Amino acid sequence: MLLTEIDHIAIAVRDLEAAIGYYRQAFNAEVHHREIVDSDGVEEALIKVADSYIQLTSATRPDSPIAVFLEKRGEGLHHVGYRVDDCAEALAQMVAAGATPIDQAPRPGSRGTTVAFIHPKGSLGTLIELVQE
Ligand code: CO
Repeated sequence: MLLTEIDHIAIAVRDLEAAIGYYRQAFNAEVHHREIVDSDGVEEALIKVADSYIQLTSATRPDSPIAVFLEKRGEGLHHVGYRVDDCAEALAQMVAAGATPIDQAPRPGSRGTTVAFIHPKGSLGTLIELVQE
């Protein structure tokens, strides 16, 4: 078994402050980590739940994948992050099993992680992010 934890579920939101406020009101949740990932055009607010995260994600520019998603589908579940010990190994195994990679090789993610995305086509309609801490 390559998966060690659900690392995070990522929810695309239009207004990050409003989304943080909603989670505070609904769950008494506080933000554990916040980060702008320039390369992806996103700002993230992470709420820690046990050893996993809810990742509220907003776009920082119009050509961001999150901006495109929000335009097409509106707010909602965007992807699931699966934690693995070795991102390169997990990526290779998924590709060998027929998955379509978005990232051909692992790359830096937020929180100092190493990540690779897998296309929803061929992965049961779910955008998967492999996350190595
Ligand atoms: Co993610």
